[in-house]
Amino acid sequence: MTDAIGGASLVLGIESSCDDMAAAVLRDGREILSSSVRGQAHVHAPYGGVVPELASRDHVTVVSEVVESALREAGVEVDDLDGIAVTAGPGLVGSLLVGLSFAKALAYSAKLPLVGVHHLMGHLVAAEVATSDLGPPYVGLVVSGGHTALYRVGESGRPELLGETRDDAAGEAFDKVAKLLGLPYPGGPAISKLAEAGDATAIDLPRPMSRRAGLDFSYSGLKTAVSVELERHGGLEKLSDAVRADFAASFEAAVVDSLVSRTVRAMRTLPLDRLAVVGGVAANRRLREEMKRAGEREGFEALFPPMDLCTDNAVMIAAAGARLLSRGVRDDLSLNAFSRVPIGDAPWRTLDPASDTAAS
Ligand code: KG4
Ligand code: ZN
Repeated sequence: MTDAIGGASLVLGIESSCDDMAAAVLRDGREILSSSVRGQAHVHAPYGGVVPELASRDHVTVVSEVVESALREAGVEVDDLDGIAVTAGPGLVGSLLVGLSFAKALAYSAKLPLVGVHHLMGHLVAAEVATSDLGPPYVGLVVSGGHTALYRVGESGRPELLGETRDDAAGEAFDKVAKLLGLPYPGGPAISKLAEAGDATAIDLPRPMSRRAGLDFSYSGLKTAVSVELERHGGLEKLSDAVRADFAASFEAAVVDSLVSRTVRAMRTLPLDRLAVVGGVAANRRLREEMKRAGEREGFEALFPPMDLCTDNAVMIAAAGARLLSRGVRDDLSLNAFSRVPIGDAPWRTLDPASDTAAS
């Protein structure tokens, strides 16, 4: 273990904010030595969504195994590490506490520096890990199961909120509509796969917020529109496989259109020509294609991390943590989980050198 983080530093990241338990080891904040993710789809599938208590109970049984496998894959021992980064929030508190308690115990026993990471900062930094020359300033679109928001990531690395969803997150809408269509959890990948066989123009669905000014999003009305259309077609039981695929394709197109049109509006108003799209929904193929096409048309570059860095992972937490640790940011063992804190209100969790303070 070396004293200074930065240089040849090894950081272990731990992420457990929702239904994935993940651990990863990173060298120099960018080189991925290992990444281990244990999902829980089998636990939550029967309920059509994440059941918080079951999520934490499953995390507690696998956390040590996932961390050990990340260390083994990286070929490092705990004593080789220079620091530990762990997601402190936002997320399900019961889930967060499992990763957090494990990280604290490990940091305590191995006398390692510990730092809490804001989950959304992790998602944004994933784009920087994946694209070596991406650095602030740029525009970040975070689209996940819990968040849909546009940020201007300023010169200092501090994200300023430009717009966000007024109700459901885009990923949440995918999950809810999947349930309406009788598809398994998680809904995003299931809808996306079924959509390949469907006609995206077959079902007439609204484009949320299209006539509203500003950069906010909204998805609950779209979900209602899908259920009204389903009723009009006589309910799920009456749908042929082909029409069900049309529903999936039409819904996916409506979400993608709204994400692309709001983002294009933001790119037109800002003097920036780089966009990073991150979070689980950034794994959506149609979104990737449409956003890249819009970028070519409008003159901006749309960057997407590889699929496995879009959905929840610990590489992004180790990367964001490495940046904080290299600036001397530390948390002590009183570090706690938080369910909701906007990025800008949690200074030590941003990457802004001006506002970082140790263990605030
Ligand atoms: O970032 P993430 O793994 O976890 C959160 O922080 O929420 O995002 C999970 C969300 C889920 O709602 C899932 O349905 C959605 O991302 N998702 C997708 C795709 N893959 C995952 N949505 C659309 N298309 C996909 N291919
Ligand atoms: Zn996430």
